[in-house]
Amino acid sequence: MNKIKILGITAISIAASILVTSCRDKRSTGWEYAPNMYRHIAYDPDQANPNFADGKTAQVPPKGTIPVGFTRFDFPNDRGGYDSASVVAKNPLPANKKNFEDGKILYEHFCSPCHGKTGEGDGLVVSHGYPAPPSYSKGQSSRGGAMKDLTDGKIYHTITYGVNAMGSYASQLSPQERWKVVAYVHHLQTL
Ligand code: HEC
Repeated sequence: MNKIKILGITAISIAASILVTSCRDKRSTGWEYAPNMYRHIAYDPDQANPNFADGKTAQVPPKGTIPVGFTRFDFPNDRGGYDSASVVAKNPLPANKKNFEDGKILYEHFCSPCHGKTGEGDGLVVSHGYPAPPSYSKGQSSRGGAMKDLTDGKIYHTITYGVNAMGSYASQLSPQERWKVVAYVHHLQTL
């Protein structure tokens, strides 16, 4: 290949790339592959929507409806809710080995840092000055009664909403996981 040819090809390539890239809107991200994927027909949740009276796409669900797969727990975060959960709410899971072992793992991850592996209230963060929770087997609940007598519903209510220095675990543990932990706490109450 002679020099002229190489120069010619180079010049044509530069001209072609200028042609392809320069005549476009500077803010454009370039050619789109399958633009329907970005500009689809369905409304995005944050888009204006003329089909609804308030003009919004994201509508508040009708009162009393629940998402598919959602487990209801109709006990409010107050003393009345705690007491009625104690009477009404029962662990729906069978007491088998698998659930027990899952509960143990979840307990050790989420609860033992404060409550201790055996539920004595001597977890690692307590040794660093965090207020010690009462022992499950020997302590007294701040809401009255012995910790060893805490029912399914009281423990589930506590995991769901927390109590005083203990936060809620509702965002970390699904309802099913909470019930597994409840069963494991019952085991620790007997130690
Ligand atoms: C950050 C530390 C901490 C963690 C983690 C923690 N707790 Fe607690 N928990 C406490 C403290 C402190 C109390 C005592 C609160 C009070 O009664 O004032 C308590 C109290 C309780 C009680 C007694 C409730 C009652 O009615 O008296 C139960 C049951 C309980 N926790 C279960 C759990 C379970 C199950 C987990 C794990 C999902 C957990 N806790 C995780 C600190 C913690």
